Amino acid sequence: MIVAIDGPAGAGKSSVAKALAERLGFRYLDTGAMYRALTWLALHEGVPLDDGPALEALADATPVGFGERGTVTIAGTDVTQRIREPEIDAAVPVVARHPEVRAVMRQRQRALGREGDSVIEGRDIGVVVVPDAEVKIWLVADPAVRARRRHAERDGLGMDELAEELRRRDARDAPNTHRAPDAIAVDTTELSLPEVIERITTLVDEARAGVG
Ligand code: DC
Repeated sequence: MIVAIDGPAGAGKSSVAKALAERLGFRYLDTGAMYRALTWLALHEGVPLDDGPALEALADATPVGFGERGTVTIAGTDVTQRIREPEIDAAVPVVARHPEVRAVMRQRQRALGREGDSVIEGRDIGVVVVPDAEVKIWLVADPAVRARRRHAERDGLGMDELAEELRRRDARDAPNTHRAPDAIAVDTTELSLPEVIERITTLVDEARAGVG
C-alpha cells in the first residue's frame, strides 16, 4: 500500500510522514530529500543550476541513498545535515523545476515505492508519481503556523523573514505542487501530531477494509 502525503512547505509533511510510517510499520520516503541531495551535489561539483541536461546526467549517475536511521547519502557523502542548510532551501526549487530532473526522480521514487508498503512525502506524489496510491493526503496549515514551525527548526532567521521565505518558496514550488482531486485535505493548524496520525491511520484502515 502507498500513502501519499503532499502539501506545501511547513505544513508538517515530514513529521507526519515519519511518525505515520513508524505507526504503520511502513517504509518512509522523503522525496524532497532527493531533490535536496542532488542540489547539494550540483553546488559541490559546480554544475550550473540552470542546466537541465547536466543535472539530469548528474541525477542519473548518482542515486540518492537512504540509510537505516534516516541518513541521506549521495556520491558516497552523508549529506543528512547539509541538505537542510538555507543555501539548499534557496537553490532546490531551481533544480526541482527541470523536467529532465523530475523524470529521473519520478522513476526512482516509483521503484522505491514498489519495494514495499510506503509512506511517500512530496509535492506531486498523488498526482504524478503514484496516481494510484491507495491513500492520498493533502496536508495544509495556516501560513503563520507554518512560519512558526520553520522557526523552531531553523536558527538565525526571524519570523518575518521566515514568512517571506515561505511565500517565496510556495511561489517557486507551485508549478510542481499538485493536489490530487481524490486527496483528503488534513489541516494541521489546530491539530497535534498524534491527532493528525490518528486521523490518517483511520483513513488507512478504511482503505484497507475497502471503504470509500
Ligand atoms: O519538502 P522539501 O522542502 O524537502 O522539498 C525540497 C524541494 O524539492 C522543494 O523545492 C520542493 C521540491 N520537491 C518537489 O518538487 N517534488 C517533490 N516530490 C518533493 C519536493
